[in-house]
Amino acid sequence: MQTQTLKVSLDARSYPIVIGSGIIDDSKLIAAHLTSARVVVVTNDTVAPLFLERLESSLREVGVDVLAIKLPDGEQHKTWLTLNSVFDAMLAARCDRTTTMIALGGGVIGDLTGFAAATYQRGIGYIQIPTTLLAQVDSSVGGKTAINHPLGKNMIGAFHQPRLVIADIATLATLPERELAAGLAEVIKYGAIMDAGFFAWLEDSMDRLVACEPEALAYAVEVSCRCKAQIVAADEREAGARALLNFGHTFGHAIETELGYGEWLHGEAVAAGMLLAASLSARQGEISDQDVSRLAALLNRAGLPTKAPAFGAKRYLELMGHDKKVHQGKLRLVLLKAIGQAYLSAEFSEEELTRVLQDIPADD
Ligand code: NAD
Ligand code: GLY
Repeated sequence: MQTQTLKVSLDARSYPIVIGSGIIDDSKLIAAHLTSARVVVVTNDTVAPLFLERLESSLREVGVDVLAIKLPDGEQHKTWLTLNSVFDAMLAARCDRTTTMIALGGGVIGDLTGFAAATYQRGIGYIQIPTTLLAQVDSSVGGKTAINHPLGKNMIGAFHQPRLVIADIATLATLPERELAAGLAEVIKYGAIMDAGFFAWLEDSMDRLVACEPEALAYAVEVSCRCKAQIVAADEREAGARALLNFGHTFGHAIETELGYGEWLHGEAVAAGMLLAASLSARQGEISDQDVSRLAALLNRAGLPTKAPAFGAKRYLELMGHDKKVHQGKLRLVLLKAIGQAYLSAEFSEEELTRVLQDIPADD
């Protein structure tokens, strides 16, 4: 597989996204993005046995000093307490402002490490080495970093762009099926919101993606990262276009909150949420019922849920009212004008939204 390099263009904070196979231990590439020969690799106890030794030894071979920090695995550890344990280890090891952090893992590790880098000694550099599909196509790119607060997910964070993203497709071979599907939800999202041609390619190629075929995965990661890089370059801090990346997410967050985080994976909740948003778009006459069926069929083939849990329109509306996308008291939703063309709207019909939520069939 040929290695591809994309660029996130943000003036002095621009950085490359390198996509390939077997590149996780490309020490030359990593060394070229360090400010000193000192790195802190943050990972977890699931990912460490898979990839840490390889990364550590290749860095040591080129004279880089490595401090490895292994965190417990899970969203429930994306907390202040875990973050503090990272700071404890770095301060004890006398890491200074020239140290570079490396996030080796999924989105939980990437978000927490990025936030540690944003705040350690007022900010140091970091590199993302995402090892889940979701992290390769979404969370490692764009500089949103965060930890959770007991009162809300990702509520404490910062925008802090990485210096380099290395998406090694080979790492996805060990990913559980359900996690792969959750990442595919975000891949399908890019097709739905901004690239009808990519959506059609996904319809042709979904079986190869589900079978974890490397060439198909590499192409899906490349197009997804290209879409995300374009949006982030245009709107780094989510003043406008970046909000389109939240297609399905307002509904999805309501599902995650009601069911309890971890019951449904984020990508699963987003899948059901994208269908609710598409149904609302259809009810408003913007897309056809056939387009909604195309989206449902694609999500279904990816192994994702196509029916949202039925916990009542009233409760959905209440939870959606707490979303970060609420602006000056008004709920805004990402809707579709067509497959491949999304827009942000505060002007949707509230009656139609209520009907879409009321129409969710009762759970078995
Ligand atoms: P995750 O980080 O929890 O990873 C999922 C599971 O896969 C974990 O158990 C992990 O240890 C395991 N894993 C990782 N790589 C593996 C591999 N190669 N083989 C086998 N197992 C592996 O979850 P995720 O879906 O990667 O990320 C979700 C997180 O990302 C959430 O916290 C979410 O808030 C965040 N997120 C952030 C952004 C952003 O823009 N910053 C965007 C989307 C999601
Ligand atoms: N995942 C949404 C964003 O990066 O803006």
